[in-house]
Amino acid sequence: MLGSLFGWVSLLFEPLAFQVPLIEPQPRLKSENGIAIPVQGPWQDIITGHYAVPPVLKIHDRNSVVKWSWQREDVTQPLPPLIRSGLYSGYNDATDMKWMRGGRSVAAVYSALVVVINHTPDRPSTDKKITFALNRANDVLHNAHTIEPLPGDRLAVGTTGQRPWDGILVYNMSEALPIVDKPPVLQKIEGLRAIHALIWDEQGQMLWATGTDAAADGSDPIPAYGVIQGYPFDAETGLLSIDEAYRFRFPEYYDIDTEWGCGYSWWAGPHDLVPVPNERVLLVSNDIGLHAFDIDEMNFTAEYDEVVEKYMPGFEVTTNDRHGINRQGEYVELPQSDLKGFSLAPDGSFLYTQSLWRLFRGNYTSLVVDGVRHQIMKGNEIYRSRWFGDIDGWPKPKT
Ligand SMILES: *[C@@H]1O[C@H](CO)[C@@H](O)[C@H](O)[C@H]1NC(C)=O
Ligand SMILES: *[C@@H]1O[C@H](CO)[C@@H](O)[C@H](O)[C@H]1NC(C)=O
Ligand SMILES: *[C@@H]1O[C@H](CO)[C@@H](O)[C@H](O)[C@H]1NC(C)=O
Repeated sequence: MLGSLFGWVSLLFEPLAFQVPLIEPQPRLKSENGIAIPVQGPWQDIITGHYAVPPVLKIHDRNSVVKWSWQREDVTQPLPPLIRSGLYSGYNDATDMKWMRGGRSVAAVYSALVVVINHTPDRPSTDKKITFALNRANDVLHNAHTIEPLPGDRLAVGTTGQRPWDGILVYNMSEALPIVDKPPVLQKIEGLRAIHALIWDEQGQMLWATGTDAAADGSDPIPAYGVIQGYPFDAETGLLSIDEAYRFRFPEYYDIDTEWGCGYSWWAGPHDLVPVPNERVLLVSNDIGLHAFDIDEMNFTAEYDEVVEKYMPGFEVTTNDRHGINRQGEYVELPQSDLKGFSLAPDGSFLYTQSLWRLFRGNYTSLVVDGVRHQIMKGNEIYRSRWFGDIDGWPKPKT
């Protein structure tokens, strides 16, 4: 790993090296690979969570022009007390947000809630209404980082906790149901800690999650490894199942002393789990850097600079202070550290958010087009931005 990272050191101290490299089409997009660029042209719609009190969800274009936004002042409908108090909490979170129902709805972790909201700008009477809500200010859900729609109007929520019973809760998010203080849990999946990302795999009929095998905060007497796990979905019963054959541990565990100081208790945990458009490949980021996981091979197939070369050419470190001493006393550069969110469009462009070093969020989003990085949504405190659309090869459930 160190070897592959040394290439970055020269970049850091050689300002000219930051200038735009030769623009080459990404290898996977070359015509001989037969991957079609979508007819509607380059992808434009992006959804970004802006941390603040209150937080704001924003749908905007590549030039940061906001077309639609949502925050608690937009809510006029009556709400049950626990949902209302979650909406008006002091939480500044806009942690995750997902395109769903063909773009008619947005699912999000917002303030102290998990919400599903209408996105019908052409129909003001329904636009921005909450159709499902869950208060997460409790022992189980307070740290929930991620949501994902499942078939049959089900919503999966990662609990993002440290205990063996942490994992995924599944809810009925049908628009036909009234909003209630405590929506019943349809299914509880235990055994994956610190889940930070979920992604539905339509082709494989599986929910993929990334988390850790032991407590990421160091409260277990063993180091925590990053894990990618697939949970097969049974359309007949509507239930996910646990099958150890689909549990894949990262090749190594890592301390994060380089960033957080000598003897820091937390282990490196996965941050985001993202599909490569039109390929059976998932990319996963953690506190150290990027890994690629091939679903057909059922194995990790690339790491660090290889992932950037293959899938994210034009990725650049966003601050020049990402280096320090690890637990073994070695000096390391971590240019790919803390990619809290990233998202790849079928047209080859991609987004990423790298938190500021020793902080939890960034203050803009990077957009890379044809190998050139642009800063967008500057000045917003951001954990994640995602393309607002159905990623080719990775459609969200139809119902
Ligand atoms: C969810 O609620 C809707 C509306 O009541 C109902 O038709 C559907 O069967 C429910 N789904 C599950 C999985 O319980
Ligand atoms: C998974 O990949 C690693 C190298 O990345 C290799 O050593 C290992 O043999 C592979 N395992 C399988 C089951 O293919
Ligand atoms: C983001 O924060 C860093 C560190 O405080 C600062 O140097 C930079 O100018 C900020 N950028 C934006 C776009 O606000």
